Amino acid sequence: MLKISLKIPRSSIVRVAGPASLRVASGRISVLGKILQSGSEIFISLYKSYPLYSLDDSVVDIELGEGGYVENPREKDDVTIQWIETAEKVVEKGSRIVVMGPGESGKSTFSTLLLNTAINKGLKACVIDADIGQQDIGPPDFISMSCPSQTVQWLRELYPEEIRLIGVLTPSQYSHRIIAATIDLVSKALEKGAEVIIINTDGWVSSPYAIEMKLEIARFVKATHIIALQNGSYLGSLINTSTPIKIMPLPSPQGVRTRSREDRRMLRAYAYKKFFDQAVLRSIDISRDFIIIGSCLASGEKLDQQKILELEKIIGTKILYGSRHEGVIYLYVQSPVKEYSEKSLKYQDHEIQIFVQGSERGLLASLLDSSLREIAPAIIDTLDLQNNVLKIVTRYEGPVSGVLIGRVKIDFSYDDSIRYTRCPI
Ligand SMILES: Nc1ncnc2c1ncn2[C@@H]1O[C@H](COP(=O)(O)OP(=O)(O)OP(=O)(O)O)[C@@H](O)[C@H]1O
Ligand SMILES: [Mg+2]
Repeated sequence: MLKISLKIPRSSIVRVAGPASLRVASGRISVLGKILQSGSEIFISLYKSYPLYSLDDSVVDIELGEGGYVENPREKDDVTIQWIETAEKVVEKGSRIVVMGPGESGKSTFSTLLLNTAINKGLKACVIDADIGQQDIGPPDFISMSCPSQTVQWLRELYPEEIRLIGVLTPSQYSHRIIAATIDLVSKALEKGAEVIIINTDGWVSSPYAIEMKLEIARFVKATHIIALQNGSYLGSLINTSTPIKIMPLPSPQGVRTRSREDRRMLRAYAYKKFFDQAVLRSIDISRDFIIIGSCLASGEKLDQQKILELEKIIGTKILYGSRHEGVIYLYVQSPVKEYSEKSLKYQDHEIQIFVQGSERGLLASLLDSSLREIAPAIIDTLDLQNNVLKIVTRYEGPVSGVLIGRVKIDFSYDDSIRYTRCPI
């Protein structure tokens, strides 16, 4: 542990990378618009670095953990002043600001600055975290919204007021659902009286489809501004296009510490933990008035007993449940089918797709209330369609009228490396 006492003259910037604890001994410091008065203390995570902007001649006592550091950024590498000026300019009553940029370009950090700027101006602001992979507010795999009244240092301090399951971690796989859910959250924000809406997007900007998706979000939510970090180079000539949505290129800070793949995985694990630690196993009767969305087994025409018996002869194992859609039969079986090759399994011109009992365990899901509103995240334990029982792990204790099942599985250590491209159950 290294302890230093740092004098920061008024209007200058010092960068601190965590892990670090910080106490303002005298003066005033702004961290992304969150004002730290003399005596205030904050902690900076191992995964973050921050610009400390001194509002007065200040003294800050810093304790650095292993790997933490303090530096004076070169003027050309730092963007803090330009970011603050841009935030001041774009945040006003009625603003709807979409923040886009590649991974590590500062989207979440700039979104935090926008949020704090709005709160400091006395405006009611909602932030929609639409980055499914690097969620700060909700669990990964979801998008989420929060409308805080106090400034924050990191969006992770916020708890989501609304969540929407996307069901995948790769935006290209389900971009239509991200667009729909973002529009839905914007309407929720308006219901809550939001005067400023900030939308943090995922880091997928490297393909024309990625740009299309971000522009569609901006168009459908009637954005006033798109902030394109890393100077918006990926937008090409769109940068100079005059549209009702102001497209504003903004530089990203240079020389900041970036996070490795492993860091990102750890950050996702922490985010799951926030929602599932202390979660309990619940058993829900799904025999009546219960809707399941996202399951091939649950949505098709249920196979009758005679068909089940015929199919058992073909595949040689006990079938617990089966359903038929056009061209495909889905079977839920007790044990793996021997020498099973999906291609070779056919029944009356139907392809056969097999789910082995227990394979649903770990799937991320979202619970629905009686008006089909998403109320809480859950992990599927068992989907027993034969006995009409759904077992889930969740912290939510209230009534549940439906479930939306995604395509990402997590295990006991919150590892989410199992992902499906087709329906997982
Ligand atoms: N102005 C800045 N000064 C110092 N560090 C910064 C600044 N802006 C961002 N950082 C740091 O750079 C890293 C990337 O920033 P941030 O998380 O905001 O990017 P992002 O685009 O949201 O990334 P992701 O795609 O992973 O969500 C973080 O560690 C953040 O703390
Ligand atoms: Mg981010």
